[in-house]
Amino acid sequence: MTFPFHGTASLSAALFADTTLRPTLATLLTAASRAEAEMEVYYSRLIVASSSSTPSPLALFPYAASCRSLVRLELALLAALGAAPLSAVAFLGSSALPLSALLLAQSLPSSGHVLNVDNDATALAQGERLALALGIACLAGPSRLAFLRADAAQLGATLLGGQDAVWLAAPVGPMAGDKMDVVRSVVDGMRVGAWLVVRSAVGLRRVVCAEVEVEAVVRACEGKVRLAVEAHPSNEVINSVLVFQRI
Ligand SMILES: C[S@@+](CC[C@H](N)C(=O)[O-])C[C@H]1O[C@@H](n2cnc3c(N)ncnc32)[C@H](O)[C@@H]1O
Repeated sequence: MTFPFHGTASLSAALFADTTLRPTLATLLTAASRAEAEMEVYYSRLIVASSSSTPSPLALFPYAASCRSLVRLELALLAALGAAPLSAVAFLGSSALPLSALLLAQSLPSSGHVLNVDNDATALAQGERLALALGIACLAGPSRLAFLRADAAQLGATLLGGQDAVWLAAPVGPMAGDKMDVVRSVVDGMRVGAWLVVRSAVGLRRVVCAEVEVEAVVRACEGKVRLAVEAHPSNEVINSVLVFQRI
């Protein structure tokens, strides 16, 4: 499944500048986020059910390839920035199909650790079932993945202070104000030097995925982060990637 266009700059600018369309765009964004969550539950159950009989069960998920490309891009950006090898990362908004977190776990050294956080208990439990079902096949051991039910805005330094990098999934705190509350709280909990990877979107992709504005993040965090790099893929990867460093 591909979504290969940003749309022309003038079309997307006109669409998002039209105040009469704002309620419709907000409704579409909420619907897209809910649809993505439902789709993840469906495919997560299918993958668990197929895990013992299918050689590559994760490939059943239609977004598996684009998610792999996105995580590869994020890790390449961090490497290009000179980030020390990551050994502890947190993924906020891991969902019923924590594919990004599984891919991150596979990229870490064997002592590495991924903390999955989601505020939806059902989604989190399904995500853990999936990781356990695949654990023997594709991970060194399920203990490399921890699962925590919590709101991303409530984690604090105890949970975030030891992380080398923290990922914020695109639909976490989708409305601008909510998202900035989450970002501010997450950054407050991170140690100086750690990386914050925020998934965003540009152009017409903003219809289905919330945009995060760099200036809004820097402002909300009151100078505790600096933008290190931003990337806006124009291939099948829908998300843009913003990498900040805690200062
Ligand atoms: C659709 S998923 C996206 C992540 C995707 N599975 C991946 O691997 O990239 C978004 C998840 O974020 C969770 N979420 C939304 N707001 C949150 C918050 N404030 N704190 C924690 N989780 C949140 C939702 O419950 C949902 O499961």
